[in-house]
Amino acid sequence: MDKIQSLKGMIDLIGNKYLPDDFAQSIFRTEEALKNIFKNYGYSEIRTPALEDLNLFKRSVGDSSDIVNKELYSFLDKNEKIITLRPEGTASVIRSVIEKKIDGNAHKLWYMGPMWRYERPQKGRYRQFNQAGIEILGYPEGTAELEVISMICSINNALNIKGPLIKINHLGNKNTKAKYCKALLEYLEPYLSQLNELDQIRLEKNPLRVLDSQNQNTKEILKNAPMMKDFISKESIKMLEMLEDTFSKDCKIKIDYKLVRGLDYYTGLVFEAVSDELGAQDSYLGGGRYDNLSEQLGGKHLPSIGMAIGIERLALLSNINPEDKALISFIILSSNFEEKAYKIAHYLRTINPEIIVDVQLSQGSLKSKLRRASKNNAKYAIIMGDEEIEAKKIILKPLIEKNSEQTIMSIEEISGFVKNIT
Ligand code: HAM
Repeated sequence: MDKIQSLKGMIDLIGNKYLPDDFAQSIFRTEEALKNIFKNYGYSEIRTPALEDLNLFKRSVGDSSDIVNKELYSFLDKNEKIITLRPEGTASVIRSVIEKKIDGNAHKLWYMGPMWRYERPQKGRYRQFNQAGIEILGYPEGTAELEVISMICSINNALNIKGPLIKINHLGNKNTKAKYCKALLEYLEPYLSQLNELDQIRLEKNPLRVLDSQNQNTKEILKNAPMMKDFISKESIKMLEMLEDTFSKDCKIKIDYKLVRGLDYYTGLVFEAVSDELGAQDSYLGGGRYDNLSEQLGGKHLPSIGMAIGIERLALLSNINPEDKALISFIILSSNFEEKAYKIAHYLRTINPEIIVDVQLSQGSLKSKLRRASKNNAKYAIIMGDEEIEAKKIILKPLIEKNSEQTIMSIEEISGFVKNIT
């Protein structure tokens, strides 16, 4: 029979805890490290459904964005309702706080989970990928900006990111953004016929998106285009300079007045973190302020800022040591007394939660099981055969310290020993 394959751009992550360089393993490690950072900053977790009403993304991420235009996974459910696999987390978070009527409060939230975008798969770009994000809700421009950039620096440092650069820009408020869009449109209109089809559509729907163009000819035309810098207030420029100043000792951070983001809901600060090490898909994190989104979705005024991290991309860049808990490989050689032996393994885990007790479940010779224990870098093997079980003893075999002999121990002795393993 034909084998069934996974869908294009969707990958399985099968961890092997004993292969530290394994990609899936480094993704899981990265997720744990991020969760710790979110918790250290005092954030609470939020989980929203993977499926949402299509209109949620049309009214937030926006009709002019590539995401809504061509990348959504949308289909009819059995009730003929159009539903959509979420392409990002921010819109769902806001929908949720509006729905729970907690949009009048301040919140600091984090989330993690799969997102879906129908993109052309390539290195670092998937159709199902994982994001971790934070949203700071209910705080107007000010300290919240410092907090987001501070967290990005913490992520870069804690995960030892290779070649990171944080780019920041300010899109002004609703009015300045509109004024700048008008000026850009006026500048670009005479060049309309020289733009490619995609940039022509962008110009019609949201001129800011043209600044994101990868087309060489468009880039050339844009060289003399009006600059955002000339439209935003002195305070906004001051804030960018303050952020650059505050964090430049700790992190590589640079103002980039050309930075725009692919989602429509931003006003105020926008940012992206990039690394040369990633190749074409060089952005491993992005976000910004979105003060009008809650109202756009039918909620109260809720000034907010947030960011999302592409976990697969971050995992490629991160350099964190694998967990180094001591490993005991537990070898049961008797099929007659498996339950008794397993009870001891279970007990040893409870007396020292800082160690790993890996019971080898496979059948096989002592030799092959010891070989496997050494391959997994086990510090000790505990061996139980018929004789040991009957005498209520176990064999402890050190595997790393050279020239150390194996010892036969009583259950009390091994308990005392295991308790002190670090
Ligand atoms: P975004 O820039 O669309 O922002 O996505 C954030 C990150 O997700 C990107 O920087 C990238 O690392 C990763 N990413 C996006 N698409 C893919 C893909 N196809 N494959 C792999 N990784 C991908 C947002 O999603 C906003 N919700 C961020 C935000 C939160 N703004 C405010 N709050």
